[in-house]
Amino acid sequence: MSSPTVFITGAAAGIGRSTALKFARSGYLVGAYDIDETGLASLNKAITSTGGRVVTGILDVTDPKQWEERLKEFDAEANGRLDVLINNAGILVAGRFEEMPIEVHKRQIDINFNGVVYGTLAAFPYLKATRGAQVINLCSASAIYGQPELVTYGATKFAVRGVTEALDLEWAEYDISVKAMWPLFVQTAMTQGVSTGTTNSLGIKLTAEDVSQAIFDATRPSKRLYHKVHFPVGIQSKALSLGSRFSPAWLTREVNRRLSHK
Ligand SMILES: NC(=O)c1ccc[n+]([C@@H]2O[C@H](COP(=O)([O-])OP(=O)(O)OC[C@H]3O[C@@H](n4cnc5c(N)ncnc54)[C@H](O)[C@@H]3O)[C@@H](O)[C@H]2O)c1
Repeated sequence: MSSPTVFITGAAAGIGRSTALKFARSGYLVGAYDIDETGLASLNKAITSTGGRVVTGILDVTDPKQWEERLKEFDAEANGRLDVLINNAGILVAGRFEEMPIEVHKRQIDINFNGVVYGTLAAFPYLKATRGAQVINLCSASAIYGQPELVTYGATKFAVRGVTEALDLEWAEYDISVKAMWPLFVQTAMTQGVSTGTTNSLGIKLTAEDVSQAIFDATRPSKRLYHKVHFPVGIQSKALSLGSRFSPAWLTREVNRRLSHK
């Protein structure tokens, strides 16, 4: 039998890199893609030097043509299997909404949301051809309630949530499940130098390894009696998402107002 496979975007750094290493150590053929060639070369070395298998390549997730090409190349190595697609590539720009140039808003939407749509669409034939295939989307605790100073970033994650929930229902008939990971702030390049009301009140506590472990666990077969779509990562994200589910809207707003110092 051929080994299981995983295709990861934004794999050159942070959560993506940690996830690539995790799946490689667990016997997966890893497809690691990014726009950062140097980071990919370092990841390639780290995986192959420990006996793992990896295919790396340049993929800008905002380019549907590149998606088609990289998926086709990976398929040639993967014996027709695409067990897990991880839509991880993302950018975050913090700041006041009105002070951010339109290009910055647009770039966040293009990478964080359009990239997920293009990639998931291009991967469909490969996912459909693989029994029990899964799509893992990097959502965020900023999609629990709109976040001041992270307005467009958070909104892209609300959109990723919508795609995840809807596709998980729509693609059940093809035996493809779609899941969303919900970490709060993680210690990666993305949050370096970021100072908002919520990063200051809640801190940046999670590591990339915490998230990659949670991603790996989310892809394992489960004995759960219900179908789980959303995976909060870390105590803070679990508490916030649970709280928002059971508290009235005015209270959720008040908690978020206080946490964001608004
Ligand atoms: N760091 C956090 O606090 C945090 C919290 C919740 C969710 N997330 C999500 O996790 C994911 C990974 O974040 P991270 O913290 O590892 O960030 P990171 O900045 O450490 O890594 C992001 C990677 O994505 C790549 N990338 C950027 N634009 C790309 C593009 N157009 N095409 C392909 N690759 C591209 C970068 O080169 C980089 O290697 C993102 O979707 C992010 O929104 C992060």
